[in-house]
Amino acid sequence: MSEPRTLPIAILISGEGSNMLAIAQACAQGRIGARVASVICDRVEAGGIARAKNLGLAAQVIAAREYPDRVAFEAALQAALARSGAELVALAGFMRILSGPFVQPYAGRILNIHPSLLPRYPGLNTHRRVLQAREREHGASVHFVTKQLDGGPVICQGRLAVHREDTVESLTGRVHRLEHRIYPRVIGLFSAGRLALRGSAVLLDGQPLNAPLQENEEDDPGLIRADASA
Ligand code: GRF
Repeated sequence: MSEPRTLPIAILISGEGSNMLAIAQACAQGRIGARVASVICDRVEAGGIARAKNLGLAAQVIAAREYPDRVAFEAALQAALARSGAELVALAGFMRILSGPFVQPYAGRILNIHPSLLPRYPGLNTHRRVLQAREREHGASVHFVTKQLDGGPVICQGRLAVHREDTVESLTGRVHRLEHRIYPRVIGLFSAGRLALRGSAVLLDGQPLNAPLQENEEDDPGLIRADASA
């Protein structure tokens, strides 16, 4: 019997690539119906590129600084994505703002993960800003990418309670563990054909989502064993 079809995805990274690893593991373990067709990184020195290669993934660097401008960089990126045959693009710690003309052809097929409960705290340094504002709740969001930075329709959020003793470091770790749960989950739904973008509405099984899907930190089955997220 032939294997069920898996959706080819491209993962774009700039850093350590822990979300990329979580997604790749979910694919390799058959937990989601996707396969990593390509990992693309915009920084030669990013740790994630070695991690991807160690896993035997097709990984390449398209170093932004080697291109004269954003148009040229995005053209190279677009060509690499086309060559990979990816049907879904997952930005996972990709620290570059993509232009409207780049994003548009991928509408409904490009996702991002952001370390806050969007629409709160778009942009950088979310953990520090959350602590400064004495927020009681924090988390991460997976959303469809639109030309508005961190502004596309949110699909799923992981939530946690901010503790008095939390620091930027502790929140980074806790949010990462949530991210490693919600990103594979969303990609699994997309791969199963259950998720779509229509206008600014997220559709799940053909029905508009009234609120993002949710996961809470305390529901994490991983909390009862040693941290297995890396
Ligand atoms: C994550 O916190 C993600 O939300 C943000 O960048 C970080 C990337 O971490 N966009 P990693 O490279 O996946 O470990």
